[in-house]
Amino acid sequence: MATTTASESSAAPALKVAILGFGTVGSAVARILCDLPAGAPIRLSHVFNRNVERKRVDWAPADVCWSSEFDSVLSSDADIIVELIGGMAPAHDYVTRALSAGKSVVTANKKLIAAHGPQLSELARKNGAALCFGASVAGGVPVIDALQDGLAGDRLYRVSGILNGTCNYILTKLESEGVTFAEALTGAQAAGFAEADPTDDVDGFDARAKLVILTRIGLKAIVPPEEVPCTSIRGVQAVDFLYAHELGATIRQISRSERKQSEVFASVQPALVPIESPMAHITGSLNLVLSSGRYGGQTAFSGHGAGGHSTAVAVVSDVVAIARGRAKAQAPHANAVSLPVSGNFESKHYIRFTVNDRPGIVAAIANVLATHSINIDALLQKPGFDREALPFVVTLEACPSALLEAAMADLRKLDFMVQPPVTMPILTKEL
Ligand SMILES: NC(=O)c1ccc[n+]([C@@H]2O[C@H](COP(=O)([O-])OP(=O)(O)OC[C@H]3O[C@@H](n4cnc5c(N)ncnc54)[C@H](OP(=O)(O)O)[C@@H]3O)[C@@H](O)[C@H]2O)c1
Repeated sequence: MATTTASESSAAPALKVAILGFGTVGSAVARILCDLPAGAPIRLSHVFNRNVERKRVDWAPADVCWSSEFDSVLSSDADIIVELIGGMAPAHDYVTRALSAGKSVVTANKKLIAAHGPQLSELARKNGAALCFGASVAGGVPVIDALQDGLAGDRLYRVSGILNGTCNYILTKLESEGVTFAEALTGAQAAGFAEADPTDDVDGFDARAKLVILTRIGLKAIVPPEEVPCTSIRGVQAVDFLYAHELGATIRQISRSERKQSEVFASVQPALVPIESPMAHITGSLNLVLSSGRYGGQTAFSGHGAGGHSTAVAVVSDVVAIARGRAKAQAPHANAVSLPVSGNFESKHYIRFTVNDRPGIVAAIANVLATHSINIDALLQKPGFDREALPFVVTLEACPSALLEAAMADLRKLDFMVQPPVTMPILTKEL
């Protein structure tokens, strides 16, 4: 049987699409749907938003129903509900009620899917509906479909990536312009790459939600989002890039997850990545996902991780998958099992100390590390800094991150520290 794209015509009546939330992504989705030629297999039928009157646009067909009443959209003849409100409430309630009514749902809401994806998928299955969330990770990069279908023949054991464009934008500004973290953040906000409240992005929670979804789809492991350790990028400074470059590396916010028998190792944190790694070449607001499979080795997916248009393409592609009848068979969380999660990866580490210089500092640090059975690999000190706030770096031989954390608790107490030390794992190019 021939398949159809969003713009190809089909003999069957077009499926009616209701958009909930007419913001950046919702309006971009509407624009794509309204640009489809007559006879396309999907068409925009409803737009729901609070105070919807101010959202009306002149380019939507006159028969589109604009509503601020979710109940009237739910009881309408719309076939597919596209949730683009974001956050947990009321999105969770609306998606639950739509699926319970047997309507298929497409969402870009990573928070919702990270927290409730398996339960919502099961609800969809029970009611003969589909739940698609391709836009919830890496925006326009079709990585969910790729892990679920394209690599279904492999046994994936690791997924990793640069999943937050805001962090990547800030880190690459620190690297290329030597600005402070505060200046880079203000620049990101002015350029529209960061929210007024940047917490979710810079402290890793946004990337963590995406990593949890990738872990389920790729590694078939369900882990609670709140149990995946997150480290903010707020401590990273331009000086860390000088030292990273000296070590043949750069710094990126890395989300990684690895399945080992009955346990998952996962974390979101700034990390040193070797210059020859594909992660090092992702700049600005781009995203990258790497998957590693037992049989097929490493596969990379990259592109625009956010933005109204690229995210809208992912949303409409999910709508098309439903129109083609492909989405219901996918059962995105099928075969995924709940597993305990730990952030205790073993790797080499970087520690940047900022000290009020005086004799005996290196010996004191070495002594604490030795007490915790951690071996120093190298010591790096760039000239030209004030003695009252002198940054220098110690790199460590491979050790579990939990062992280092215990040592850090002691190191932070040393009276010559003028800033909290900054630790990052030094990753290999395989990540
Ligand atoms: N923007 C991106 O690049 C991007 C990328 C990937 C995924 N996503 C995801 O896509 C979803 C939408 O993001 P967005 O950037 O389009 O957000 P947005 O611009 O803030 O749009 C949200 C829309 O929902 C409406 N809304 C909010 N709360 C509502 C409520 N209680 N009842 C009715 N309407 C409500 C808002 O109306 P008001 O105008 O009244 O606030 C607004 O029109 C989120 O889940 C986000 O994580 C976004």
